[in-house]
Amino acid sequence: MNSTIERIFPFLRKQKPVAAPVQESYRKFIQKYPEYESTRIMDEIRKKEFSRLDTQSHVYLDFTGGGLYAQSQINNHMEMLSSGVFGNPHSSNPTSHHSTEVTESARNYVLKYFNTSNEEYRCIFTLNASGALKLLGEAYPFEKGDHYLLTYDNHNSVNGIREFAHQKGAETTYAEVLSPELRINESVLIQHLNTIQGNNKLFAFPAQSNVSGVKHDLVWVEYAQKLGWDVLLDAAAFVPGNRLDLQTVKPDFVSISFYKMFGYPTGIGCLLIKNDKIRKLHRPWFAGGTVSFVSVMEQEFNFGEFEARFEDGTINYLNIPAVEIGLKWLESIGIQTIQKRVSILTDYLIQSLSQLKHSNGKPLIQIYGPKNIINRGGTVIMNFFDADENRYLFSDIEKMANQQKISLRTGCFCNPGLDETISQVTRERLHQFVSCNMKELSHSEVVQFFEKERGSVRVSLGYVSNFHDVNAFLIFAGSLLNQKIKVGTLSPQPVTEIKKESQMG
Ligand SMILES: Cc1ncc(COP(=O)(O)O)c(C=O)c1O
Repeated sequence: MNSTIERIFPFLRKQKPVAAPVQESYRKFIQKYPEYESTRIMDEIRKKEFSRLDTQSHVYLDFTGGGLYAQSQINNHMEMLSSGVFGNPHSSNPTSHHSTEVTESARNYVLKYFNTSNEEYRCIFTLNASGALKLLGEAYPFEKGDHYLLTYDNHNSVNGIREFAHQKGAETTYAEVLSPELRINESVLIQHLNTIQGNNKLFAFPAQSNVSGVKHDLVWVEYAQKLGWDVLLDAAAFVPGNRLDLQTVKPDFVSISFYKMFGYPTGIGCLLIKNDKIRKLHRPWFAGGTVSFVSVMEQEFNFGEFEARFEDGTINYLNIPAVEIGLKWLESIGIQTIQKRVSILTDYLIQSLSQLKHSNGKPLIQIYGPKNIINRGGTVIMNFFDADENRYLFSDIEKMANQQKISLRTGCFCNPGLDETISQVTRERLHQFVSCNMKELSHSEVVQFFEKERGSVRVSLGYVSNFHDVNAFLIFAGSLLNQKIKVGTLSPQPVTEIKKESQMG
């Protein structure tokens, strides 16, 4: 065990490994949530398909970071690769034709999975959700007088589109979310949607928050569209636990990363574009694969049709078929079973954490966002406090969890708007930061500067999670009851001192 951590938290040395099932807690759990039994199939699946988790005593609580793959997904993909011959697609030779067949089959399967087809949407394969968002940002026809409206609760890859908007002279407006539930401030959003003018107006929000787990109301899609907005729905954190039904809700653009849904393959996401919006997007360049005609002498070119104009160069033709395998895998389990299991475990986690009180009655943990499971997914954020209400640094919680083989995530989760909301950061404080030599600071220096006042600990459950994972985390959290942070040891240094030290070093 790391000696500094041990010195600061000596009680951790005595803590037993957390994996042992706790019969009594399980009995109480089942008594409270008898419907958990109806998701038993997941225990069989975990044993058969994810045994590596338990044989290596991992407690995986980072499903919003990345999903986990089943053994059979890998076997099916390997079987496909070892039995076929695949050439570079988009030629008529037999091996090329074979690749085109399997990639087009995957493309159609993605659309089918989201209950739509080529008639209405196109599926453009990208590197990940961020790749999809960048593609949209650079091709959206922002001009002076146009507008990009987005919620405070957004991943940085959605926030980053504002730079494309700014470069082209368009304005950006943020619509706030409200504590403690961290849901959209409806009256503010309605006002923005109704009053903001522009020829091209793009409104972006996440179907589910990657930080608070809040499922935002999808009625905003149609509401905004009726007022002349194009709508980008970032579904990256939503689709691992929910089925996006594009017959019910029809955003103009949807961003997705497949590894978040079923763990494998990494390196593939997609941008779903409504057919009637394809010609609205203007790509800033052309590349191999995106054009039907290019002349060097005349310096003219024509874009290809539909998805072809957005996929630069050779697509990931060996891994794209694994997306179809992954979607079929999820379907074989059933999204309802996944939802039920995640929802029960999330409720158990939230209720149990809320009961952890120091002997003086002070809570160990503050959870941000909804404290129930209504319109929320399995992502829960929190901070830890000692009996004197001193906040633990999230990096210390992460280090201590690492020692117990618990994989959770800490920090701001690429979602600064939500972090600024829950941490109640003031404009003055932010101004103080950006007006000092911010650009010269390394990542760890920035973290040190903010850590005492910002950031949190995120636990996210997914389709493979079970009672024991949650219980392991509860035991870990409980080990911090009635402990005291040695004040001074954990205080972050002011930025100027950090700079001095790093220069000296
Ligand atoms: C809601 C949301 N949007 C976008 C992204 C970006 O996904 P990726 O890193 O796969 O590009 C993430 C990643 O965590 C996310 O949670």
